[in-house]
Amino acid sequence: TLLSRLQQVVEHAGSHPEAAVCDLLRILQAEHGWIDDERLQLVARLCGISPVRVEELCTFYPLVLREDPGRHVLRICDSIACHLAGAPGLLRMAVAQSGVPLGQSNGHYSVLPHVCLGLCERAPAAFVDGKNTVAPLSAEALRQLLQGWER
Ligand code: FES
Repeated sequence: TLLSRLQQVVEHAGSHPEAAVCDLLRILQAEHGWIDDERLQLVARLCGISPVRVEELCTFYPLVLREDPGRHVLRICDSIACHLAGAPGLLRMAVAQSGVPLGQSNGHYSVLPHVCLGLCERAPAAFVDGKNTVAPLSAEALRQLLQGWER
């Protein structure tokens, strides 16, 4: 079961349960799409640390979603190479097209700025639904991708 899988991860971390937090969040997010308060508390309970501490650790992991992102998530890298290659313009376009601020869902999808994806030589880079990379991401490809998700 999912719970026994999570318990195994904690056991594996031995006397450093905080080391398991990232993996637990990753597993739960893959299963449910995002981390609500109940899942956050489950991680805290399993690791024997406070929910506040788990929340703190979440802020270190930019992939952890604490709000329901909708069906799709687009992360656009805004680290230096992508920033210089036009990421801010793409992020502005995405906000205009989605009609909601970055990080919020418009009922279909969310767009978030992200840290370097390791594709700097193909900037600006993006990461789609936690599995596919698009690099370079053109303004036209962005428009089409979001339009497809609105249907
Ligand atoms: Fe964007 Fe590295 S700076 S992929």
